[in-house]
Amino acid sequence: MGQVRSQMEAASLQRQNCDFAEESTARRPLFLRVNGAFHDVKDEDPLMNLSEYLRNILQHFGTKVMCHEGGCGCCVVVVEYDDPMKPEKRVIKSINSCLFPIGSLLSLKNHHVITIEALGSKNKSLHPIQQRLADYNGSQCGYCSPGFVMQMYGLLKNNATPTNQEVEDSFDGNVCRCTGYRPILDAMKSFVNDSAKNQRGFFIDIEDLKTCPKTNQLCKQSHLNRIGPCTGQAKSTDNLLFSTNTIKWYQPTKLTELYMLLQEHSDKAIKIINGNTAKGVYKNDGPYQVFLDVKGIPDLYTVSMEPSCLKVYSNVSLNSLIGYLKQYSDQSPTYNVIASHLLKIANGPVRNTGGWAGNLMMKWMHHEFVSDVFVVLEAAGAKVTVSYIDAVNVYTLMDFLDVNMQGKFLLFVEIPKLAEGELMNTYKIMPRNQNAHAYVSAGFRVNTRVSNKKQLVKTISMVYTGIAKNFVHATATEKYLQGKDLTSNDTLQGALTVLDKEIIPDDSDPLLASAAYRKILAQALFYKFYLFLLSDDKITPCNRSAQYSLERPVSTGKQTYTSRPGEYPLTKPMPKLSARLQTSGEAQFINDIPPLADELYATFVLSTEGNATLGNIDSTAAMAMPGAVAVLTAEDIPGSNTFMPPPYVVEEIFSSGPLLFAGQPIALCVADSQQHALQMVDAVKVTYQDQKPPIVTLDEAIEKKSFHPSPGPGLLVGDPANAISVSPCKVEGEIRAGEQYHFYMETLICRCVPTEDGLDIQASSQWLSLVQQVVADAIGTQVKNINVTTKRLGGAYGGKATRTNLVACSGAVAATVLRRPVRCMMDLSTNMKAVGKRHSYVVRYKVGFNEDGTLNGIIITYYCDTGSSPNDNEVGENLVFSDNAYRCKNWQLIPVALKTNRTSHTWCRAPGSKPNIFVIETILEHVAKFLSMDPIGVKQKNLYARGDSTPMGFVLPYCSIQDLYSYQLTKVDVAKRMQAIQKFNADNLWKKKGLAAVPLKYSLYWSWGCFLCTVSIFASDGSVIVSHGGIESGQGLNTKVAQVCAYMLGISVDYVSIKPTTTNSSPNSGATGGSIASELNCMGVQHCCEILRERMKPVKDKLPPGTSWKNLVAACYQAKVNLTVQDWVWPDSQPEDAPQYNSYGVTVAEAEVDILTGENQINQVDILFDCGESMNPDVDVGQVEGAFIMGMGYWLMEKMIYDPKSGAVLNATTWDYKPPFSKSIPVNFNIELLKNAPNPMGVLRSKASGEPPQCMSCATLFAVKRAIEAAREDAGQNAYFPLNGPATVEVIQTSCLVDYKKFSI
Ligand SMILES: Cc1cc2nc3c(=O)[nH]c(=O)nc-3n(C[C@H](O)[C@H](O)[C@H](O)COP(=O)(O)OP(=O)(O)OC[C@H]3O[C@@H](n4cnc5c(N)ncnc54)[C@H](O)[C@@H]3O)c2cc1C
Ligand code: FES
Ligand code: FES
Repeated sequence: MGQVRSQMEAASLQRQNCDFAEESTARRPLFLRVNGAFHDVKDEDPLMNLSEYLRNILQHFGTKVMCHEGGCGCCVVVVEYDDPMKPEKRVIKSINSCLFPIGSLLSLKNHHVITIEALGSKNKSLHPIQQRLADYNGSQCGYCSPGFVMQMYGLLKNNATPTNQEVEDSFDGNVCRCTGYRPILDAMKSFVNDSAKNQRGFFIDIEDLKTCPKTNQLCKQSHLNRIGPCTGQAKSTDNLLFSTNTIKWYQPTKLTELYMLLQEHSDKAIKIINGNTAKGVYKNDGPYQVFLDVKGIPDLYTVSMEPSCLKVYSNVSLNSLIGYLKQYSDQSPTYNVIASHLLKIANGPVRNTGGWAGNLMMKWMHHEFVSDVFVVLEAAGAKVTVSYIDAVNVYTLMDFLDVNMQGKFLLFVEIPKLAEGELMNTYKIMPRNQNAHAYVSAGFRVNTRVSNKKQLVKTISMVYTGIAKNFVHATATEKYLQGKDLTSNDTLQGALTVLDKEIIPDDSDPLLASAAYRKILAQALFYKFYLFLLSDDKITPCNRSAQYSLERPVSTGKQTYTSRPGEYPLTKPMPKLSARLQTSGEAQFINDIPPLADELYATFVLSTEGNATLGNIDSTAAMAMPGAVAVLTAEDIPGSNTFMPPPYVVEEIFSSGPLLFAGQPIALCVADSQQHALQMVDAVKVTYQDQKPPIVTLDEAIEKKSFHPSPGPGLLVGDPANAISVSPCKVEGEIRAGEQYHFYMETLICRCVPTEDGLDIQASSQWLSLVQQVVADAIGTQVKNINVTTKRLGGAYGGKATRTNLVACSGAVAATVLRRPVRCMMDLSTNMKAVGKRHSYVVRYKVGFNEDGTLNGIIITYYCDTGSSPNDNEVGENLVFSDNAYRCKNWQLIPVALKTNRTSHTWCRAPGSKPNIFVIETILEHVAKFLSMDPIGVKQKNLYARGDSTPMGFVLPYCSIQDLYSYQLTKVDVAKRMQAIQKFNADNLWKKKGLAAVPLKYSLYWSWGCFLCTVSIFASDGSVIVSHGGIESGQGLNTKVAQVCAYMLGISVDYVSIKPTTTNSSPNSGATGGSIASELNCMGVQHCCEILRERMKPVKDKLPPGTSWKNLVAACYQAKVNLTVQDWVWPDSQPEDAPQYNSYGVTVAEAEVDILTGENQINQVDILFDCGESMNPDVDVGQVEGAFIMGMGYWLMEKMIYDPKSGAVLNATTWDYKPPFSKSIPVNFNIELLKNAPNPMGVLRSKASGEPPQCMSCATLFAVKRAIEAAREDAGQNAYFPLNGPATVEVIQTSCLVDYKKFSI
């Protein structure tokens, strides 16, 4: 039995632990100023993050949180304060509130935090940024929206006339998983040269927000002038701002005070607080006893241009440093180089607060840290000054790494000007082009002299990070190069050979890129620098492309569609109904519901072993933690210990013994706050027995024949074995596709409140009736006692279809056992470790074909890792997608479900279809390569024609793919562009381009979807409420439903309100998934409205023409018409289980690759998609774009990394897992919804848009592959090679077969 503490015990312990209140009652108030109001924080923990304070204390829920590590941007707020150097000037910064401790705000004089709440609200008026974001359809689920709005607000407050480039540059810290970024960027770029910025109210006027801390009324506040850092005696205790049993927080205002404090506490663990952003990277540093917040020391912001150097004190943030370097760029050419490199660090909000000094200290504490600051400053020959009470010392950066910093302070850095004859450049290669740490960073500085047309090296400095913990200088190569002539190829090769020997990358950390890649990067970056030193006439033209980095222009895009104004509001392009709520931050997600008085918080203890038996769970220490209430285990579950009901295989809520994967939940820690619950988790001690080696990889599972029971018979059509054997040409191969974390911005959460009749549950679920069922089973009650509600989801993408059951059951168990409301939420790390992702594949195939590329026979075996359970398995169920758009008479499709010791994987947007389409596209590419033909032509030859049959035996009566393919190729000028690409590739050795086209046939099935829809008209005013069984997760379901309802009833959309989905109003409804929920719920509402119209007709016929809707409804009511209709939608299967209809599309993608580094850029994507007659083209374009970019992330960026020993997820952070950012999207991104394409088999002639377009995103991988092929040809390798997904920067570069021995000038 787990441990439970009574409420009284908990309260008493809480009092013992929470000593702020007792100690500080006599202390002066300490005011935090938020949106004009002053809040006394003297009793709060100064280390509390601002986001936590805003949300938990002030209940300002507009500011969202997700990663808590500066990596997602949804928590961005703006802070204003007096410039410490120029008090008359205000500093305005966007910051990550998840990293900023509230204590630290008190050092910023006249600080003022502005959150999304201050900008505007839906009911009063929206701020123009909020309004534009909504109008441009830049908000789907809306979870990221407040962060984007605040980031833009911060930008405009600093720069009222930004350029398009500046706008795009400023979103390097905000993730949006839904929209694909294009509409967000368009919305924000609409402020470039925009008159709206000059309107009153555009910027929040600080004077308007002055309220008195005592009365909360407007006042002059002269009595508040003392707020801010104290001044006065250098007596340390005067600077003591907060004090508890365990920590002391000081706020010195002068250097002398700081030194005294450092000396006074030199025996303690001290943390200097400047930006506090290191916490986003090294979360476990500490514990610290003394915090010295140095932000109130004006001297530390000093920057001066000295005769030989730029002298920068330690409080200067990275962004300020960049500003100064640019300001003084005329003093030294290197200052711009350094500034450009520093701009690649982290993201705007982190650079706004994080400083160079903190960064160097991170390197000092963790030598393996890939510090960009260290690389560029060491390359520049910078020196740092370290000070303590009575001395200062100057060090080179290398020496600084060995200094004992106990009791010392990093005071300033001197960045020298470039000496005569010197040149410097720096490079950073990262897995994503924004907000990513380096694979390898390098900085080079050389001093040369010219003699007899020779360019001789006097000295050279070659600095690296990302190679090995203690590897900084390539000293042997530096030595070798001295005196050598750079214009000689021998010098280059000689240096590269020495470098090859001395670069020995650390290969011990699975999180790092491969040693081979990092080694060739080190050489390639040196090569780039080498060519940079030479004048163009000394470089062979085809080598010049090595010199420059890919340049990304401002992105553009065009959206083309038609609508039928005569049908409006149906087919009307309009923003989502909740867009304004979302952009104003008022849209309430589950974690935004204010807690009840006695609400508890629960979080999971996870197994660290991947194949073992649970030993003992010792929760003694956890129960002694502040706020601890209970540690619950399997024995506490009143009902069944599974969160998947029969006929699914059991997946235990908390392990009863067997541990099937590292990350499996073992217990639940319940406390009075999320923070306390998380702290308890670390204190639970778990022992394990019978540890066995887990099966972690797909290859191991295949080799050991570790399979789940057969996922189905597969498919055999014709005689593929014979067709292949008699074919004149045949190939076989293997291709792989990885996992994908859903990366919903709202992690899994559930709130369970015990009520008179059972439990009220708010669940982040796509399938409420399933939650209802499993919760009832888990707590041993009837389904009728469980009421589940979901208003909206902060993204889902299939990941909340069944996996939310785990948090729902856990929360419900806790709420039942403890009889208190419980909020059970996964933080990002827990979510990534414990919860299933998109399935990964190894696929083997054989194919026979003719010399012209016509397919004869195909055999494909799909090995799909479903993880530790076969639940949510996709492999046998999606064979309908295996042919994509290609005709072949003989097929064999064999699905195999691999059983590994990984978490049970689950559906993810376009499950099965996306990998299967990738596989057949790969096969066509392979065929083309074998025949030395262009893949586009081979694909075209095999495309289905109208009336063809698929391997499943379905006739394609409306198939238009041949026409669409030709249309799109012509429209986007493929032939001409291919010629230009060929020329480009012939002219350039080190940059290559590629173009690929992917067609699509996507089969939609309705028969598995069931939803209950209800439409009620209110007699008093004619307004209408709709409840349906679908879940709004950003896909615009509610908006389409409202449009259909309004259209059918002949009223304005304003009359219609869509209510939250509940199991009471829509019982038995199925999962929202597979792109069909929008259609089926629209269909249900359409049916309801038809019945309502019929019922109302007799009354209407008796009324005079032109009678208003309101009067008509009133008359119907008087005539006793029932104004509520329900419709149960569960479509029958089509004959022979054929799809309801097929969607078609074509995508053409063009990529450019830096062959030396693997960096790549998708220059252009043109998507043609058949959406039938779109119900709302704005929403559907948004779905196409969002799906496509999520797909691009899967193919080019997102990689899960597992511990080879335990199978634990290693990269459960935004630091190591990289979904697309706003500059990952195609530079030119064009979408066309097929015109004049009404779908006779669809709802109101429409087609689905949520998943199909994602299946074409592999075009980006193939475009990159074309570019790689061009590089491989240069390397003398023309054979076919498979490019597995994800083709990360590392994979791309290593596929290019770059050999440093071929580097030449
Ligand atoms: C999302 C994210 C992405 C990032 N990406 C990159 C990247 O790509 N490349 C890169 O190089 N870095 C990256 N960083 C690291 C970032 O640059 C550092 O977190 C930041 O520069 C640290 O500065 P700070 O002022 O916030 O330091 P703090 O967090 O305040 O302090 C860090 C440490 O330094 C000590 N310290 C601070 N100032 C002094 C001083 N003057 N004297 C003595 N000790 C001091 C503190 O005691 C503390 O131990 C990233 C960080 C985040 C959160
Ligand atoms: S929650 Fe702050 S950046 Fe993600
Ligand atoms: S709208 Fe951006 S994450 Fe959903």
